Amino acid sequence: MSQEITRFKESKDQLFQPVKFEEPRGVFVSTYGCQMNVNDSDRMISLLEMLNYTPVQQPKDAALIIINSCSVREKPVHKVHSEVGRYRKLKLTKPDLLVGVAGCVAQQEKDQLLKDLPAIDFVLGPDNIDSLPEIVSKLHKAPEERLSAARFKHQEAYHVQTLVQNPGVSTFVNITKGCDNFCTFCVVPYTRGRERSRPYKQLVEDINKLTSRGVKEVTLLGQNVNSYTSDCGVNFANLLKGLCEDTDIKRIRYSTSHPKDFTEELIKISADYRDKICEFIHLPVQSGNTEILAKMNRGYSREDYLEKVDKIFDYLPGASLSTDIIVGFPGETEQQFNDTLSLIDRVPYESIYAFKYSPRPFTKAAKWEDHLSEEEKSDRLHRLFEKHKIIAHKLCEKYDDQEFEVLVEKRDEDRGNWSGRTTHNKVVNFVGGENLVGKFVKVKILKAFPLTLRGEFVSEY
Ligand code: SAH
Ligand code: SF4
Ligand code: F3S
Repeated sequence: MSQEITRFKESKDQLFQPVKFEEPRGVFVSTYGCQMNVNDSDRMISLLEMLNYTPVQQPKDAALIIINSCSVREKPVHKVHSEVGRYRKLKLTKPDLLVGVAGCVAQQEKDQLLKDLPAIDFVLGPDNIDSLPEIVSKLHKAPEERLSAARFKHQEAYHVQTLVQNPGVSTFVNITKGCDNFCTFCVVPYTRGRERSRPYKQLVEDINKLTSRGVKEVTLLGQNVNSYTSDCGVNFANLLKGLCEDTDIKRIRYSTSHPKDFTEELIKISADYRDKICEFIHLPVQSGNTEILAKMNRGYSREDYLEKVDKIFDYLPGASLSTDIIVGFPGETEQQFNDTLSLIDRVPYESIYAFKYSPRPFTKAAKWEDHLSEEEKSDRLHRLFEKHKIIAHKLCEKYDDQEFEVLVEKRDEDRGNWSGRTTHNKVVNFVGGENLVGKFVKVKILKAFPLTLRGEFVSEY
């Protein structure tokens, strides 16, 4: 257990010989965190296919286990430690088992993670995913080694393997990496590095490849998609316009929008191309109080935010909104929290993702002294959710008895229904019809719930 840690260095392309296992080997990936991590996990699996790995559902069936970790709050970091504890025991019965930690905790802790957790064979930062086949090949040839690969790469074209091999109907495409905003609560700029945008032409090529593999919908990913700026000066609004005009993709979603960079130009283009650009906007507000927003370094006030929301509904009256909220930010008073409660009365969010503030390493807010107690944070979170529950029940009534276009993503054989999403990102489970996966269909809604809609098939488009 006292093996040395080696800093991983990529070989030049010609020198790298991946091992190719004759029999398929299982890989189990457990994923925490945001959509970017979900996409990174899919890309890792695609890369490992070149070595003859195939995904398995249970850790016990795997020859390689990867924990793709998240560091945005304390809880998912604890999960890494408890999972590794379980795999340490599994290694006693399977000595050849390889265990790696990828993602934001790997980037944050690097070699320290290997020192603290002797059961891990490698750490892999988010910028180093392309090296995974080489790392696994090396470890196969020299199992006593322990490799650390957590080096930021600064080039724009940062992925060799940008896309997953078997993408399905709807998939993700990274358009930016990193973040330069340094919100005072957030660890992401430290775990994902500086912001870089991928070249416009590369994105068009990626999406053309995906449509030729049967993809109908893409979600463009970035920590702040609105600050996308390509090599040739294309901003985010024009990227959307260009993708609508220059590719055959049928639907485009994007996440996450930062309110400070959310422009009227973007809203106008979304309205002009509403047949392709989904009428769903995730616009994280974080707090309804201007002083707290300033302490968070968010770059907008409550009034600025509300003005943007009103503009969205001017151009897109049918749009659906969701948001992220942090309760119990350091120094947040009851009055300031009430401003968040009143904001959710004012903005018709169909869903909210709300979190108790969690101090994170390297961040400014973690060093402040006016932290709230766990009880106060839990109480505020509970009151926020209770209030939103009533709002969400009221809002979803508008879907009852209406007909919507649904892109069908899968069939649930157990329940005997199809499942897909509307442009508003509402999941619709419905019955009727045959061979519908990948098709756009009209569905009549029979019963609306806050998170899902239940309906019946009307016709294909
Ligand atoms: N780039 C996105 C957010 C990515 S992190 C944006 O700017 O909106 C996803 C969400 O996690 C954030 O919107 C925030 O609500 C929450 N979050 C981030 N850091 C947090 C922390 N220290 N404690 C609690 N929640 C946090
Ligand atoms: Fe974190 Fe702020 Fe960047 Fe979002 S915009 S990833 S919250 S620093
Ligand atoms: Fe978590 Fe990293 Fe995403 S911290 S939210 S996995 S960018």
